[in-house]
Amino acid sequence: MCGIVGCIGAENAYSILIKGLHRLEYRGYDSAGVALLNDNGELNVYKSRGKVNDLERFCESKDCSGSLGIAHTRWATHGEPNDVNAHPHCCQNGTLALVHNGTIENYAVLREALEQHGCSFRSETDTEVLVQLIGYIKQSSGCSTLEALREALQQVVGAYAVALVDREQPDCLYAARKSSPLVIGIGDGATFLGSDASPLVEFTDKVVYLKDNEIAIISRSEPLKVITNDNTPGKVDIKTLKMSVSQLEKGGYPHFMLKEIFEQPDTLHDCIRGRIVDGKVLLSGVRDNEEVFRSARRIIIVACGTSWHAGLIGKRLFLDLARIPVEVEYASEFRYSNPVVNRGDIVVAISQSGETADTLAALQIARERGAFAYGVCNVVGSSIARETDSGTYIHVGPEIGVASTKAFTGQVTVLAMLALAVGQLRGTVSAEQVKEIAASIKALPGIIRTTLKLNDSIRHLSGIYTYVHNFLYLGRGVNFPTALEGALKLKEISYIHAEGYPAAEMKHGPIALIDNELPTVFIAPMDDLHEKVISNIQQVKARGGSVIAIVTEGDETIATMADHTLEIPRVPECLSPVVSAIPLQLLAYHIAVMKGRDVDMPRNLAKSVTVE
Ligand code: F6R
Repeated sequence: MCGIVGCIGAENAYSILIKGLHRLEYRGYDSAGVALLNDNGELNVYKSRGKVNDLERFCESKDCSGSLGIAHTRWATHGEPNDVNAHPHCCQNGTLALVHNGTIENYAVLREALEQHGCSFRSETDTEVLVQLIGYIKQSSGCSTLEALREALQQVVGAYAVALVDREQPDCLYAARKSSPLVIGIGDGATFLGSDASPLVEFTDKVVYLKDNEIAIISRSEPLKVITNDNTPGKVDIKTLKMSVSQLEKGGYPHFMLKEIFEQPDTLHDCIRGRIVDGKVLLSGVRDNEEVFRSARRIIIVACGTSWHAGLIGKRLFLDLARIPVEVEYASEFRYSNPVVNRGDIVVAISQSGETADTLAALQIARERGAFAYGVCNVVGSSIARETDSGTYIHVGPEIGVASTKAFTGQVTVLAMLALAVGQLRGTVSAEQVKEIAASIKALPGIIRTTLKLNDSIRHLSGIYTYVHNFLYLGRGVNFPTALEGALKLKEISYIHAEGYPAAEMKHGPIALIDNELPTVFIAPMDDLHEKVISNIQQVKARGGSVIAIVTEGDETIATMADHTLEIPRVPECLSPVVSAIPLQLLAYHIAVMKGRDVDMPRNLAKSVTVE
């Protein structure tokens, strides 16, 4: 949700900022802007509706010189996406420019007060309120910019990551955060700023993750300094970044999404590496907290979107393998539900980005009420990863396509290993069972490689269904959440309406929708509920609906009923969502491409949802 880039000390700040914006564009892409301080002491601000390419075109004829600047790519929260509402925003006298990620909840009250003091606003944004407030405090009290920033941040309610430039301080850049991420990269003679590490990776591997309520003073000539909002010195904790530039590029694929779908054999290999040894699952997060898991009374899983679907699958795995009661909650609902949480509960927060605002808040609430917090994240060093007591990274590498693919399969794989490790510890799975499932987890990369061979037939199939207006996705047991995930993938990138249901629920209402214009995708591998799913397929066929069925290879029964079958390799039931997700991802991808959609940056969406 909005990307921030900053740079001080590099010869051509503009090119670094633009490159950084492209890297962060997945976070928001409805407008973009840049503020540059040139050698004559002029602060030039350029903004444009649309994508970063539009901003670049707009800047072609402008003075983009300077070695200090900030930039922003936006996902609108306050005010429509247009040139005026795009960031950076400036204070009344134009000496300060600010970019912001997050939401200032009390912006209306602050705006009214500032208007009474003579400030006039150009945009509808909460961000302009913040920079006008800083400017007003500075002017009215005669304090320094840093003091005014500190004071303003104490007055705002909400979430923010900000970068601030002062025309009168050409040697300094300020950054601050609360609940929205910011990373500082310390290079050779230059310092960089990003909403995540992707804009910095080319220049340095030395990074500092700013913490909540911290302000960074980034100077040209002095070492990085961090203070808290109440003016206590903070610690500059330099970490080494493990990310490469090639991980952030498309590598010959037309879209990041397709690259990420095809990467899954390798990403799952990385996810599993070192975690299955001699037929057993070894997770340091479990090993270091054996007593917590042994005596756990309940697991509460909190997550959003695709990660929530992975959580629903995780629930089945924990119930089957570790015999612990599990609740799965939308993080956004959980945080406002006055939840009953006790000591002995474990809250598992699942998040690719590790920055989702609702998941972070849900985790914090559960933790305050005594739960042990466990994270299943992808982004190393992210806020959720840092706010948990322990956890397991999924290690699938940067996911850039807005639709989550490789993170989903990584999350389910980690949850399977976690449930198995806890089951081992609690004695709820036999050594035989552990050995069998662990071997199948190890085989997943090869199995996914085989499954990806479906790509050509799915592309062909997609041509038949490109212009359909609605889809139904049905599955049972562990594959009901897979159906939800298949429907979400299709709707978010193709804008076709799609619903996921447990197959048996169909007869309680959705069956009324079935006709020859509504195709149904069944996730129907050979498992304990196979016969039941076959009956559901017959019910659809009897009503003239067409059926695409994802089946276990060799399933001749469903092949005789369904209009199209997509065969996947046989795996133990608990792992089948990882495999059946692949054809669902490919189906959504190809239909969206055929419809001419912007697959990597679908309308209205952003990758990292750091606002409520
Ligand atoms: C769907 C998708 C979203 C995310 C959700 C949570 O393809 O990407 O539904 O899964 O916004 O994001 P994370 O996992 O980063 O917390």
